[in-house]
Amino acid sequence: MSATAPISRLWPAPAAEPLHDAELTALYGRTERPRLRVNFVTSVDGAVALDGYSAGLSGEPDKRVFGLLRMLCDGLVVAAGTLRHEGYRAVRLSEPRRAWRREQGLAEYPTLVVVSGSLDLDPAQAAFADAPVRPIVLTSAAAEAPSGLAEVADLVRCGADRVDLAAGLAELRRRGLGQLLCEGGPLLFGALTAADLVDEVCLTLAPLLAGAGAGRITAGDASAPRHLPLRHVLAASDGTLLLRYARD
Ligand SMILES: NC(=O)c1ccc[n+]([C@@H]2O[C@H](COP(=O)([O-])OP(=O)(O)OC[C@H]3O[C@@H](n4cnc5c(N)ncnc54)[C@H](OP(=O)(O)O)[C@@H]3O)[C@@H](O)[C@H]2O)c1
Repeated sequence: MSATAPISRLWPAPAAEPLHDAELTALYGRTERPRLRVNFVTSVDGAVALDGYSAGLSGEPDKRVFGLLRMLCDGLVVAAGTLRHEGYRAVRLSEPRRAWRREQGLAEYPTLVVVSGSLDLDPAQAAFADAPVRPIVLTSAAAEAPSGLAEVADLVRCGADRVDLAAGLAELRRRGLGQLLCEGGPLLFGALTAADLVDEVCLTLAPLLAGAGAGRITAGDASAPRHLPLRHVLAASDGTLLLRYARD
């Protein structure tokens, strides 16, 4: 299927030709080392959502890269807030993407990982009930699970009364989930940044002004600024910018 807004590379090594999926896949890639990649879409004026949802910010080029990043990861990490609010469904991939994963020796689907302090989660939500791979919930020792949750997900308790994210990610890696993709939301991103656990940020800049009202893509307690080098700038023909920042 041809893209309605082809994507090409602006930096480094500008090239006018549209990038095919295989080239995009190589540009984002997987790493030898374990990695936590965070993916967000924002407006030019830094909004996290339009009318409360990310969908209004996300055009075809963003959706294209969003899907490729899912194909590339072992574990898909999402905060309970975003899971509930955006009504996450089961993480499914198209047959060509599953075939690509099989060729790479990867599991057919990534594992969904939900971060929740309260365990206020609905086991009937499709993200759990229809999951092709049993999801993992990172929580604390103190949290009480609702009835039925342990039947549809593995509860991993890290931290006594709050979720220890560093310990949680270490446990995911111990389980073979080396390439982690975090799809937000802002409170989880803020906590991961504060704990210095973010290796990479893929940021889509949608060509629109959202106006005042929405929050930023990060939230929570303030933390120290951290340098994150720019790795590539891609542009879609509709004006969307796709930026990748990663530490060494
Ligand atoms: N623009 C984008 O790319 C993008 C991406 C994702 C989300 N969003 C938007 O973000 C908004 C949702 O944000 P949100 O305020 O709900 O933030 P969030 O980070 O999605 O969710 C916050 C909730 O997740 C759990 N959580 C997050 N960090 C945690 C931590 N360190 N330890 C334990 N639990 C943690 C907690 O769940 P419990 O309450 O279960 O303890 C917390 O209440 C929505 O409007 C959504 O559309 C936008």
